[in-house]
Amino acid sequence: MRKTVYWIEGDGIGPDVWKSARPVIDEAIRLSYGDERGFDWRELPAGEKALRESGKLLPEETLEALRGAELAIKGPLGTPVGTGFRSLNVTLRQTLDLYACIRPIRYFEGIESPVKHPERVNMIVFRENTEDVYAGIEYKAGTPEAAKLIAFLHEELGANVDASAAVGIKPMTEKGSRRLVRAAIRHALAQGLPSVTLVHKGNIMKFTEGAFRQHGYDVAREEFGDRTTTEADAAPGKLIIKDRIADAMFQEALIRPEQYSVLATPNLNGDYISDALAAQVGGLGLAPGVNMSEKLAFFEATHGTAPSLAGKDRANPGSLILSGALMLEHIGWNEAAERIYKAVNAAIARRAVTEDLAAQMAGAQTVGCTAFGEIIAGLL
Ligand code: NAI
Repeated sequence: MRKTVYWIEGDGIGPDVWKSARPVIDEAIRLSYGDERGFDWRELPAGEKALRESGKLLPEETLEALRGAELAIKGPLGTPVGTGFRSLNVTLRQTLDLYACIRPIRYFEGIESPVKHPERVNMIVFRENTEDVYAGIEYKAGTPEAAKLIAFLHEELGANVDASAAVGIKPMTEKGSRRLVRAAIRHALAQGLPSVTLVHKGNIMKFTEGAFRQHGYDVAREEFGDRTTTEADAAPGKLIIKDRIADAMFQEALIRPEQYSVLATPNLNGDYISDALAAQVGGLGLAPGVNMSEKLAFFEATHGTAPSLAGKDRANPGSLILSGALMLEHIGWNEAAERIYKAVNAAIARRAVTEDLAAQMAGAQTVGCTAFGEIIAGLL
């Protein structure tokens, strides 16, 4: 079986990390399945490379291919200054309706962490990507728009907002909440994980975050009723759906991380908790990620273009390599994914790592981007 994978090289260290990462991904597949399975890689132009070649940062052919694609993976894309283009990443997310941002967080032995038991963290955050206070509907204090909205709230709805306030809107829909939780439950069931936790602030924001919680339980009961249970019922052999208030979840993540597996969150909670968890395992530099629509799973290295390291063979290819492993897991090629996880673990245990990791590991030897990729490939 062969799968077409569209890939975007990316700017800055994009070419460095790709040179190192792709051989690791291909070799993991070959070692696991011989010639029976493989990726057909198709490059799509985007970013500075596309601008040089065609005068466009995001050519229509790239969007067209992605609209019809199931699998894609990208290196980091810079946000060019002074072109009036807000962000390629945001444009891609909105144009392709990539509504779920998914970040797995696991610990790699040997990396320095600020907590005593980072190895107890093994979670995957499903963050809603299109709604909530991130919708971009907000008005600066003192503007006519803010004044108009404040007056409307007062006159029509009897809500008193200070006249000097800046105002933002927090839209959250049933559809948006349900599809996010549905994706989280599907993943947990496919991977045989023990629980999905709905992380919300519904005690305060009842009709947005509280509704998110309710829609989450409804999806579980209506669409996965035979395979899910609640914390109260805890029917054996079934996926447990539970919920935690966001502030309590931050405590739980530190105190009892082993009791949590998949987290499903609205946009803002998810943004905070995914970075907090990544920091907890000392692994921001190794974090892989994926943004998903109903059709497309678009994997990405979560770091930026690191301009000061570009073209110097000094970048860490780990995030892209692990994003490749996540893609393999997503399509059920779990043996190949597992091989990559083990090899990255083993490479870090050898203490010959790129400079960003070496800075977090006492007595580690610094190797270049290419060498680190080769070490990982050799341990597959
Ligand atoms: P950055 O992630 O590029 O750099 C932050 C720090 O981390 C720097 O010290 C950098 O050297 C280091 N770093 C990042 N990735 C590394 C790697 N793989 N190996 C070793 N060290 C690494 O973030 P920054 O500087 O805020 O952004 C630079 C550009 O990247 C901007 O144009 C920004 O818009 C873009 N960006 C793109 C993202 C994406 O495409 N997903 C995500 C974040 C930023």
